[in-house]
Amino acid sequence: MAKVVHMGLIILRYNIADVGYKVDLQAEFVHLARLALDENPRDLAAVLRRTLQPIVRERPDLADLANRVLARAASDSLIRSHRANQPLPVDMDSRLELLRSEPAPEISVEPTWPEQVARELTAVLAERKIEAELRNAGVPPTRSLLLVGPPGVGKTLAARWIARQLGRPLLTLDLAAVMSSFLGRTGNNIRTVLDYAQQKPSVLLLDEFDAIAKRRDDAVEVGELKRLVTVLLQTIDDWPMEGLLVGATNHPDLLDPAVWRRFDRIIQFPLPSIEDAVSVLNTLLATDRAVLPAKQVILLGTLFQGKSFADITRAVLAAKRSAIVNHAALPSILDGLVEQLAQQSTIERRIDVARALQSQGMSQRSVSRVTGLSRDTIRKRLSTTAHVPKKGAK
Ligand SMILES: Nc1ncnc2c1ncn2[C@@H]1O[C@H](COP(=O)(O)OP(=O)(O)O)[C@@H](O)[C@H]1O
Ligand SMILES: [Mg+2]
Repeated sequence: MAKVVHMGLIILRYNIADVGYKVDLQAEFVHLARLALDENPRDLAAVLRRTLQPIVRERPDLADLANRVLARAASDSLIRSHRANQPLPVDMDSRLELLRSEPAPEISVEPTWPEQVARELTAVLAERKIEAELRNAGVPPTRSLLLVGPPGVGKTLAARWIARQLGRPLLTLDLAAVMSSFLGRTGNNIRTVLDYAQQKPSVLLLDEFDAIAKRRDDAVEVGELKRLVTVLLQTIDDWPMEGLLVGATNHPDLLDPAVWRRFDRIIQFPLPSIEDAVSVLNTLLATDRAVLPAKQVILLGTLFQGKSFADITRAVLAAKRSAIVNHAALPSILDGLVEQLAQQSTIERRIDVARALQSQGMSQRSVSRVTGLSRDTIRKRLSTTAHVPKKGAK
């Protein structure tokens, strides 16, 4: 650490005479000196990053040295060496732990990632594989992610999954829960948590991130809230390179554009496509696959359109449970599920399903029972849609 300070001081001293930087170097120097005397390596590293980045850009002659200092300031050991095994932060009054810590997060079912999500998550992991190389080039890997999408599409799961893939502990702060406590204390609580999470390489999940924004209309606490948001934004900016901060939200519309901009990467989580639904069904039904007709799984996948991964998971687990409790065969329970889903679907989707069932050789009477469409409708719609357009009708 002494070496980092020394190098930082040399660079800063060298540049103090140099006016024209956007960074107030004299102020930063004083700040840095104080942090060095306090032996506060994390903040020291943050200040070094802030001051050295413009130097790398604007002084090619110093870029190499500055990059080396940056890489050193970002290294795990600098931060880890300090406050290694701190206890989890607790709420001052209740003494409840503010943060859930999972040293090795577990995942019960291997996730199915929709294509675009898979691409983004893979990119984040790939960057971490060559982290040292990136740091040496002065390009930090993705340090902050914002996961956006409706409930039940796997945002929280993705944070666990990333932590597991990286072999890092997962720290979870549920902002909805923390925000519901008295706000004055909330501010301190959040600061404590952020501080703690930066001490060692981890994945920090700020779940229900929009909870911060939701309190905006609460006039009494506007001042404190603004300060809190400022602290959060600054924290996202200064998040250490070896950490990964993940925000998750169901309500991106509630977030300020300024908040969006702070995140290095934004990942949109869509509802599952038919293929995604079939894939998650195959995973959930892996042990029963021998007794299930493949067509039934595809049919279910089609009928689950518009539903989330969580909805699909819940329905399949309920079906399996019911099969065991009632000593029934799973395929017949799933037939019941098909029927139930079909009846909730739009007419158009039911017609798609009717077509699929009919092509599987099901009688018109049974198709009518399953889809809830009248035999008349089935006859009309399936025969007209099967018609080849007449010649001349453009
Ligand atoms: N991509 C996925 N693949 C498989 N299962 C999923 C997926 N996404 C969600 N699930 C299931 O739904 C549950 C809830 O997902 P969660 O991550 O909490 O959703 P979100 O945070 O987006 O509301 C998970 O525990 C898992 O069982
Ligand atoms: Mg969630």
